[in-house]
Amino acid sequence: MLTTAIEAAREAGKLLREGVGKITSIERKQGEATNLVTEFDKLAEALIIAKIHERFPSHDILAEESGSHAIVSDYRWVIDPLDGTTNFAHGLPLFSVSIAVEYRGEIVAGVVYDPSADEVFSAEKGKGAFCNGTRLHVSAADSLINSLLVTGFPYTIREHPGRIIEHFNNFLMEAQGIRRLGSAAIDLAYIAAGRLDGYWEMTLFPWDKAAGVLLVREAGGRVTDILGNPDSIYTPNTLASNGIIHQAMLDVLRKSL
Ligand code: IPD
Ligand code: CA
Ligand code: CA
Repeated sequence: MLTTAIEAAREAGKLLREGVGKITSIERKQGEATNLVTEFDKLAEALIIAKIHERFPSHDILAEESGSHAIVSDYRWVIDPLDGTTNFAHGLPLFSVSIAVEYRGEIVAGVVYDPSADEVFSAEKGKGAFCNGTRLHVSAADSLINSLLVTGFPYTIREHPGRIIEHFNNFLMEAQGIRRLGSAAIDLAYIAAGRLDGYWEMTLFPWDKAAGVLLVREAGGRVTDILGNPDSIYTPNTLASNGIIHQAMLDVLRKSL
């Protein structure tokens, strides 16, 4: 399954890389002015699903653009064919393909592919996390003032700006720096790689984080919700870190619950 996920992510990523600057269709999802979907989101998803169907026809699939392909199976593939659509639509080369496999509700394999950097981040439960074959470890940052954090904002921020802006302000006052890369899957992969130390976001979908949370855990990091409860990919709010600064991040989040 991991081999299939890597192959599918690479093929979809190639399509996206070659598609930069060639978009002919941009739609707005559910009437949200900033939530874009291009023909490349759909083409990449169709390619990934065709490959999974070919190899594992009895497996269930949950994919961002086509929803649930409800087959009763112990296995469910959770797919974001293009994470970072806004970046992609602007030709900003920071976007990814995210593919995960859930077995009886637990993520057992995950791949995040960054086609611009040609980096494959992959993990299997209990077997570690890797980038292009090299083992990954989270950072050793031990305080917020020594930590580079990352976050993201939902497309619905205009309707519910409150806590999101407060959390951002609170972390700005505590951290060494904050980045907003525009791809939740890359944010999580970078936590796994030790390039970033902590990540929080209030409104994620399962496909944004399914592969990324396994990468972080397998690289020695910690993932919970923003209250510190065990993470489920079906819980929208998410906190991921190197583990060492996790409690300090929970303390900052608690200031604006
Ligand atoms: C979005 C990106 C972004 C995050 C949003 C996601 P999309 O996914 O991951 O970084 O802040 O919450 O919806 O729409 O580009 O697949
Ligand atoms: Ca996404
Ligand atoms: Ca997407």
